[in-house]
Amino acid sequence: MTPFKQGLSTLWGEVNFPFTLAPMVGLSHVVLREVVRDYLPANAKTIWPTEMLNSRRLPHQAVGKTPETLFSERDELVVPQILGNEKEFIEKSIAKLEPLGIRGIDINMGCPVQKALKHNYGVALMGDAQYAASVVRMAKESTDLPVSVKLRVGLHKDEDHFYKFCHGLIENGADLLTLHPRTGAQKRRGNADWNQIKALKERVGVPIIGNGDVQTYQDAMRMLEETQCDGVMIGRALTCRPWILWQLGEEYGFEAPRGREGQRAPQGESEEAREYGVVVQRYCELCFQYFPYPLAMRKIKFFLRVSSPWLNFGHSLTKVLGKCRELEELQAATQKFFESDSLILSPYTNLAY
Ligand SMILES: Cc1cc2nc3c(=O)[nH]c(=O)nc-3n(C[C@H](O)[C@H](O)[C@H](O)COP(=O)(O)O)c2cc1C
Repeated sequence: MTPFKQGLSTLWGEVNFPFTLAPMVGLSHVVLREVVRDYLPANAKTIWPTEMLNSRRLPHQAVGKTPETLFSERDELVVPQILGNEKEFIEKSIAKLEPLGIRGIDINMGCPVQKALKHNYGVALMGDAQYAASVVRMAKESTDLPVSVKLRVGLHKDEDHFYKFCHGLIENGADLLTLHPRTGAQKRRGNADWNQIKALKERVGVPIIGNGDVQTYQDAMRMLEETQCDGVMIGRALTCRPWILWQLGEEYGFEAPRGREGQRAPQGESEEAREYGVVVQRYCELCFQYFPYPLAMRKIKFFLRVSSPWLNFGHSLTKVLGKCRELEELQAATQKFFESDSLILSPYTNLAY
């Protein structure tokens, strides 16, 4: 059984594993990519995101040195996401990112925050199909790399508008679409409607990555099967259970991750709770390695807020670690916390963040 359609490999020849991490502000930086990569099957290749990068700021930044654009030696197949709507800034941003060895550009047409709406980028672009299509053209004219768009089903639900919108993006060069099937108005409330992923896949020729509410490896497999999409993007759940990638690898006959040869992926609520402790330790260590204090601490606190709701006593973990000031203190507190026998990691939580 293979999870793989040829869709993604038409853009990135070496990709053979159709599961990817989602771009998330404050989270999808070098540290999370490193942590998640620890659990990627050794012979699997997939694409990797950055958090969204503002194209108005990138041209003036030391790209490659800012916390959002730091890459590790292991980083490969990175497709950064930009937020923007003006040719000058898009072009300059791509020119600054290309020397990092990026492998594509993703345009954000899904961010629903007030600021994005005010500046007419993010999901606001979904209100103007022609303009959004011209943003894709701006990116295509700025690079020979593949250009993808991550979008929602619209500002509000309107299927006719949505399909016309997607066709406009594709006619103007979008090579791949990632659909998070909520409306802009929904923000992160309600359920992601996977039927919309299936319907889009049936209507367009470019590869489609589906996204939204995947919490377990079984969910990811179900999304692939039910929607026939070319890939599944997972956000919040990978902050807690990065070994979903390992579990998927086992299902589809991939190798264990590097350094885990001969082992099987964590399973069962107690074993998974212990592994989450390993993830927290690693995340903390890498944050202190890559980011200066107090930024490292801020990133750790945010990570705990998003990743801990699956853990019973997740609140206490956030509280206990939030009081620490140094790495040694964090390491000791994490170790002590995860010594408890009563910790369990639920398969599902209500995705509050
Ligand atoms: C904290 C946070 C930050 C996010 N930032 C971005 C972003 O920068 N760009 C983007 O396209 N989507 C962003 N998203 C949306 C996710 O990429 C994803 O579409 C959403 O979380 C649904 O997927 P999930 O249910 O697997 O988490 C963010 C989501 C969260 C929780």
